[in-house]
Amino acid sequence: MTRITTDLADEYETMFTLTPGKMRAIVEGFKDALELGLEKPHQTVAMIPTYIPGWPTGKETGDFLAVDLGGTNLRVCLVTLLGHGKFDIAQAKYRLSEEQKHDDGQKLFDFCADCLKNFIDQNLEIEEGTEVPLGFTFSYPCAQDRIDQGVLLHWTKGFGAPNTEGRDVAAMFRHSLAKHVRPASPSQLFSADFFAAQGLPVKLAAIVNDTAGTLIASHYVDPRARIAVIFGTGCNAAYMERMADIPKMRSAGMADDAEMAINCEWGAFDSFENRYLPRTKYDLTIDKACNKPGEQIFEKLISGLYLGEIFRIVLCELKDDGLLFENQDPDKLQVPYAFETAFLSLMESDQTDELLMSIGIFSHFFSLQTTLAERRFFRTLARLICRRAARLGACGIAAIVSKMGYLDEECVVVVDGSLYNLCTGFSDHLHEGLEDIFGDKGRNIKTYHAQDGSGVGSAIIAAMTTQQKNSPAGHARVYPPRQS
Ligand code: BGC
Repeated sequence: MTRITTDLADEYETMFTLTPGKMRAIVEGFKDALELGLEKPHQTVAMIPTYIPGWPTGKETGDFLAVDLGGTNLRVCLVTLLGHGKFDIAQAKYRLSEEQKHDDGQKLFDFCADCLKNFIDQNLEIEEGTEVPLGFTFSYPCAQDRIDQGVLLHWTKGFGAPNTEGRDVAAMFRHSLAKHVRPASPSQLFSADFFAAQGLPVKLAAIVNDTAGTLIASHYVDPRARIAVIFGTGCNAAYMERMADIPKMRSAGMADDAEMAINCEWGAFDSFENRYLPRTKYDLTIDKACNKPGEQIFEKLISGLYLGEIFRIVLCELKDDGLLFENQDPDKLQVPYAFETAFLSLMESDQTDELLMSIGIFSHFFSLQTTLAERRFFRTLARLICRRAARLGACGIAAIVSKMGYLDEECVVVVDGSLYNLCTGFSDHLHEGLEDIFGDKGRNIKTYHAQDGSGVGSAIIAAMTTQQKNSPAGHARVYPPRQS
């Protein structure tokens, strides 16, 4: 016997639906928050100047390394910029364990340096006496007053490594890089130089947020790109701002007509004010139980880290109320974060009459049998949670578009992250949201998937900063990745 009724689905529909009116109110609040962040330091939406000196020309060339520390993986990339908006990339991915996210911060950077060394040893030969410029994509809020320095304001996305918040992560990473001994060349083997060459043959040239990297990489390939958004484990946006419109940087002495990429750190929107975002009791539960309660409230309603968890908590409550999984033990479902956000997308896109995908997910991962009515409810709920996330994301995009006056022209927003790339329907919900906010003009906003943006972007930024200061070509001769 099933207890799931249409009324129940309607109840959740009301709870998770954002009306166009509500969305427009959020956009207004969001615009104010963006302006405030540009005006003064230490605001809820931090609007961090990245010190990326304007757009790339597309003519940057040479070999660059990038280390990309995201929410789930660590990537090391060799990016060869070919000019004319073209590049080649060779990369390796390393999985981060939950322990590493909470172990001492220096150990995390040691791991990054070890992976980089491993990548160099296995794939590259770097000409003796040279250093390859390295971009470090570090996707957490960092205050910068130079491109090659960044003080971690606070961890997000479930990270909590001690001894890192409030410290310059570039300096920490350099410390880890210096621990390695460079591979000795044959001529060094029996000479005093053998022990002299400390550290990897790289020069950490730039610390880059993934959004800023995506913005720059996308613009390198297609100069129409104006705004970059990540909908992945975390959620955030970057765009290019006029110096004249960043009042908090007036004393930096830069020309008013110069431009600077801004890392919005919009995941924190409304965290302290609590004025705009409608939160359900499930959102409150997640916030209370996480390692950073009260922080990143916007992100907690949107990003991939949390959507599966919202779904899981609803199901646990319905089981406790005796409405689901009759006479079954849901112990596996009771484990926090056991329900992956990827499952929501699989359930939402299931076209089979019996909803076979849900049967598989629940029996295989949670040892639970489900009725067809339950599975239909799950599909509705998955859709509602993803739709709300996409519509909130649309509010953030709309705020930047409208603040910058981009609505009357075609505005290209580049997007990366697992939610946008893998969740069926996410992009449709996003565009439907933009039309609900702006009417027909919402169609002027085009979103495109930005491929490999975060790694390639930090390589391009390393190129922009090093080639600006020095000679036009890359500094180091890197012999291409070895064939395995
Ligand atoms: C971080 C941002 C990052 C975003 C996407 C958020 O949790 O605060 O810096 O850009 O995740 O990775």
